[in-house]
Amino acid sequence: MTGRFITIEGIDGAGKSSQIGYLVERLCSRGLEVVSTREPGGTALGEKLRELLLHEPMNLETEALLMFAARREHIARVISPALARGAWVVCDRFTDATFAYQGGGRGLAWWKIETLEDWVHGDLQPDLTLIFDLAPEVAAGRLARAGNAPDKFEREQAGFFARVRMAYQERAAADPTRVRVVDADRPPQVIRDSVDAIITPLLPP
Ligand code: TMP
Repeated sequence: MTGRFITIEGIDGAGKSSQIGYLVERLCSRGLEVVSTREPGGTALGEKLRELLLHEPMNLETEALLMFAARREHIARVISPALARGAWVVCDRFTDATFAYQGGGRGLAWWKIETLEDWVHGDLQPDLTLIFDLAPEVAAGRLARAGNAPDKFEREQAGFFARVRMAYQERAAADPTRVRVVDADRPPQVIRDSVDAIITPLLPP
């Protein structure tokens, strides 16, 4: 028995968190075992790396390598064992985020990320990726209203997020079966309905 691996993506402020809560609830209500986790993070070591990644200035390639180091640990300790026992894994960000942020946002060569992807999880890809798509100006307004102290990424300018968004769209266009783009500039209930329509066909009868 193997479970399903669902990843959730989008620029900062796109409203992933509330939709993840809804999705996890929806899957649990069907009696499925659900592991809800995040990147960078998801393990004790990964959460320590997250602290560094979100707050410490560092070289771009160091940033990409640490993202993948945290990911390797996460896959080995959490994701693969959960899938092997038949659980559904809902992961807040995965490798598409590295393509979008380090690749699109910061300009790291795509092939370097592909090389790390192949090394770290050549045999594992999400079954489904939802990208919550929102204009950077709207996302920035949401973040400002939330009032939390911004991390290193959230302090980036609109141009950075425009590039991140474009890279996400590129990832979706390259693999439309796995990656689904959800328009996040709509009321939460309408977004939930879209998520439902995508998830329902995957659910066991
Ligand atoms: P979060 O605030 O949505 O949990 O994400 C943490 C930040 O880390 C977010 O700004 C995106 C960034 N990030 C990357 O730059 N590359 C990655 O590979 C991942 C997983 C996250």
